[in-house]
Amino acid sequence: MDRTDEGRRPLDVMCTDIVDRYHAALHRSLPQIRAWLTAFAREAASPAAREMCEVFAELAEQIHSHLAKEEHLVFPALSALPGADTPPFLRPPTTFATVLHPIRVLEAEHVRIEQTLGRLHELALAITAPDSLSVPFRRCMTELAEFDRHLREHHRIENEVLFPRALELERQVL
Ligand SMILES: [Fe+2]
Ligand SMILES: [Fe+2]
Repeated sequence: MDRTDEGRRPLDVMCTDIVDRYHAALHRSLPQIRAWLTAFAREAASPAAREMCEVFAELAEQIHSHLAKEEHLVFPALSALPGADTPPFLRPPTTFATVLHPIRVLEAEHVRIEQTLGRLHELALAITAPDSLSVPFRRCMTELAEFDRHLREHHRIENEVLFPRALELERQVL
């Protein structure tokens, strides 16, 4: 998403764009990285390798649960808001009386997900040679770096653009 455009898009278009661009990439990369980490840990001697697999499984569970909430509950509610901004100014019924509380829950989950990612990076630093020099470990680290960058960009767009715009729009129509 172009940074100059991201704040001007209708909410339903933004939600669809986030799901297509960021959620779809997570649905693809989570099982792939998990499989690579498992293959690496099977051959590695470092105790931190097995712990990395466990923490990544925890991370995948947190992210899957978070994406399901966004895709099935919160994004449909946010997408319904723009309809309330045009004649006849009727807000379609949604699951939530206000989107404020679900948004606060999602923001807290972003923090927890990034904390789990931080634990994963700490464990990666504890991997010792020769495991740390192996091709499977280097591949996992390259993929995790890209995964980290993409996830933080995804969270930033939701926290700093999508959620504030939804709350502002809701204030106008409630
Ligand atoms: Fe998301
Ligand atoms: Fe999110």
